[in-house]
Formats: sequence, structure tokens, C-alpha cells
Amino acid sequence: MSTQITIIRPDDFHLHLRDGEMLSAVLPYSARIYGRALVMPNLIPPVTTAEQAENYRRRIIDARPEGSHFEPLMTCYLTDSTSPEALKAAYAVQAFHAVKLFPAGATTNSASGVTNIRKVYPVLEAMQEIGLPLSVHGEVVDPEVDIFDLEAVFIERILKPVRKTFPELKIVFEHLTSKEGVDYVYDQDENMVATITPHHLLLTRNDLFKGGMNPYMYCLPVAKTFKDREAVRKAAISGDERFFLGTDSAPHPAANKEKAGAAAGIFNAPTSLGYVTQVFDELSALDKLEGFTSIYGARFYGLSPNGSTVTLVKRDEPVEMDWQIETGGDVVKIFKPDTPLFWDLVD
Ligand code: NCD
Ligand code: ZN
Repeated sequence: MSTQITIIRPDDFHLHLRDGEMLSAVLPYSARIYGRALVMPNLIPPVTTAEQAENYRRRIIDARPEGSHFEPLMTCYLTDSTSPEALKAAYAVQAFHAVKLFPAGATTNSASGVTNIRKVYPVLEAMQEIGLPLSVHGEVVDPEVDIFDLEAVFIERILKPVRKTFPELKIVFEHLTSKEGVDYVYDQDENMVATITPHHLLLTRNDLFKGGMNPYMYCLPVAKTFKDREAVRKAAISGDERFFLGTDSAPHPAANKEKAGAAAGIFNAPTSLGYVTQVFDELSALDKLEGFTSIYGARFYGLSPNGSTVTLVKRDEPVEMDWQIETGGDVVKIFKPDTPLFWDLVD
């Protein structure tokens, strides 16, 4: 039985860092673990230009703890009016590593997102040409569709036509949650990859209601059935390069989580790698951990794996911590599922 593991330092290919005080409060937790992170652009206002991305990147660099080499990789928020020419120019100066598609109204801060995928076809054409990946929030916005089917319906209505029209476009199906999503990615080629979050490896929709309705288990896409979680887990430990880690760590102040209309998003940065390691350990797949956390994603984005390592140990007793951080006169609670955490990062 392994009680310690050393792996190449992981990257987080889907992270919400926010801005201002919240950025300063949450960044150290990601910077301690991850070498790089693909930073989501859903600020208010969203990050839509190379200049905004560069300014945001500098604010992140300035907020890094002393001595940290954490590297933010910026993304562009796709809107109905994104210009293909501007995007090409931004790509030429490496302002963006991906363009994020939020269907308008799909999730937190997605109001400026895309209202009709056809409107951005010229942008997708340009991205296919230059090799800039499209990162997608894969849920349709349709009040007539069951919330647990939003991802499966997105495949039919959006992904299939886009793949058919732009077969060489690199696409990242973000935070995969469903068996349909996993099966779809397996059926595609190397241009279609997916990120998997720590929480979707752990939660099912039962967790939303266990012991009473629990907003801290609520994120989008929402956790699904045991069968879906099984498919997501198997994909994560498969060793297939198309599946890699993106935490989707998404902090919200307690006041926004603990109310009617609770915000979607789970702040998992502090416990993310510990829980991922724990799931891989439980599935006897620790030999597949490093590929998933530290190699496949980097390779997809054209980066070399990080030059340093991290070590995790399996404690005899559950890991203790405050399970919340303070910022802006409020707290942000740390992801704490119903499963005690035993795997702990050692510095
Ligand atoms: C994210 C957020 O809060 O920014 N929320 C979430 O539930 N995952 C947005 C997103 O990635 O959907
Ligand atoms: Zn996200």
C-alpha cells in the first residue's frame, strides 16, 4: 500500500481566480500546488481583449505569494462580437492560450456569453486555422431541458455540428460530468479533449441533498448520477491522454452561497490535489495520477511538463484544517465532501 507519492508538479487547466481581494485570498492555495493554471475570464466585465488579459495577468502575478513561480495562462471570453482578426493578433503575441465559450446564461458571469453558436463561426474558423483551443462550458441554455441532461443535449445541439464544420478545431470539453460526455470524447480524435474536476470525481447529485439542501455541493455543471460518476472516474484513471485535470475551483463568499439563488461554484483549490490523489488511490490507479495531473494537459496546450515535483502523503488520521478562508469581511468555504481527506501535500 502506497503511503507517499511524488509526481511532476501538476497544472490546473480550469481555474477561477476572480480579482481584487478575493484573488489575493485564493491565489496562494493554487500557487502552492500548481505550476500553471488556465485562468477563466468570467470577471465582470469579462476578459475579452489582449490588453485586459495582460492587465489581469499582471494583477495575478502581483498577488502571488513571495517566491512563487506560479504562471497564469490567460483565456479570452468569447462573445457574439469577438473579432477573428483581433483574436489572431492577440494569439500572435501569445496573449491567450484558449478562448472560453460560455453559452449566455449557462453559469456564473455568463451574461456576456454567446447567444447563438452560429454567430461565432467566423471566430471558430480563425481559431481552427491558427490552432487556438476552444474551451467550452458544455451545457445548453434551454428551460425545457432537464438540468441533468444539459450536457448530453449540448453534445447533440452544439458540439456535433461544430465538430463537423471545424474538424481540426481543438476543443476542450470542460468539467465533464456525464457518461454521455465521456462516451462522446472517447469516440472523437485528438482534437477533442476534456477536463475533469476533483468534485465530479467525488460527488453525485445525492450530495446536493444529503442532510438537507447543501449549496456547497452545488456547481455547474451539476453533479450527476452514480453511473455518470463511474464513467468520469474511469476516464480519469484510464491513462487516455484526452482526459486531464481542471479543478474548476470557483470561490464565492458565504453570503452568496447561503441564500435562495445560491451561486454555483465550489472552492476546491486547497483540497483539490489531495482528493484527486485519494480517488486514484481508492481505484488502485496511483500509477496513472501523474499523467492526469501533470502531463496530458500540458501536452495538449503545447507546453512542457513542469520542472519541479510535489509530494503527497497518506495520513493515518483525516487531514485537519479550518475549511474556510477569510476575505472581504466574509468567508469562503473550502470543498469538504462527505468523505474525509487523508492525502496531504508536504512542502
Ligand atoms: C463557475 C464560477 O463560479 O465562475 N461556477 C461553477 O459552478 N463552475 C463558472 C463555471 O465554470 O461554470
Ligand atoms: Zn469553471
